[in-house]
Amino acid sequence: MPGFLTRWLRHGPPRATEDREFEPGKLPRHVAIIMDGNGRWARKRGLPRVAGHRAGVESLRDIVRACVDWGIAILTVYAFSTENWKRPQEEVEALMNLLVEYLRRELPELKKEGVQVRAIGRLEALPLPAQQELARARRETAGNNRLILNLALNYGGRAELVDACRHIAREVLAGKLRPEDIDETVLKGALYTGDLPDPDLLIRPSGEMRLSNFLLWQLAYTELWVTDVYWPDFRRENLRQALLAYQQRERRFGGLKI
Ligand code: FPP
Repeated sequence: MPGFLTRWLRHGPPRATEDREFEPGKLPRHVAIIMDGNGRWARKRGLPRVAGHRAGVESLRDIVRACVDWGIAILTVYAFSTENWKRPQEEVEALMNLLVEYLRRELPELKKEGVQVRAIGRLEALPLPAQQELARARRETAGNNRLILNLALNYGGRAELVDACRHIAREVLAGKLRPEDIDETVLKGALYTGDLPDPDLLIRPSGEMRLSNFLLWQLAYTELWVTDVYWPDFRRENLRQALLAYQQRERRFGGLKI
């Protein structure tokens, strides 16, 4: 039975009708987002930075729903980087509390929507309540297959490559792998995202033109889409613009158009 029909029977018709605009079969499988601009959004309104992060959670809720509605398979969002610990303790604590609050509040809805929660990064360094809520969300959504929501937490692209190298080195030391067998497939498999396809589309709100240590290996051939809109203002309509722009791109992966 086609996936579309299975989804329809299991979850009912798509909520949105706008999806007719998308070219069938040309949507990205994996979308990655750098959720940036929360601080500037708050400053513009004379609010504390934390208010921007709180508003950013609402954008995340909206975008998760849109991804479910439009049949995106994987959404990876940059929620906390290995460098974000340098922020004032108050802000770090607020972000960790928001994560716990988000997971507690959204879990029933995420389960209902068929979302599988995952996380990538050095998770063992997160505060215990965050680790516990993440573990619960991952456990309780492990069987879902409508959308993988992949939260990058205490994530850094360079740290990920270091961790992958350590993992491979241990395999070599254990005699399970020969150095000459290490190739791109082995390295890819040792990344936190080892079993996921690379992102097809990277969205960067707030106008910044950099990768900020996000998915350095995985983004090698990803299409980039940047908007000046701050993340707390980024909603389903903005995602639609990004997806429509993506459909106009010609992906060649270093080859020639055939
Ligand atoms: C970058 O904006 C954003 C972050 C460091 C945090 C992103 C977190 C959220 C959207 C909410 C929490 C996430 C979950 C999963 C509950 P910035 O503060 O650097 O913005 P600025 O560049 O304008 O200062």
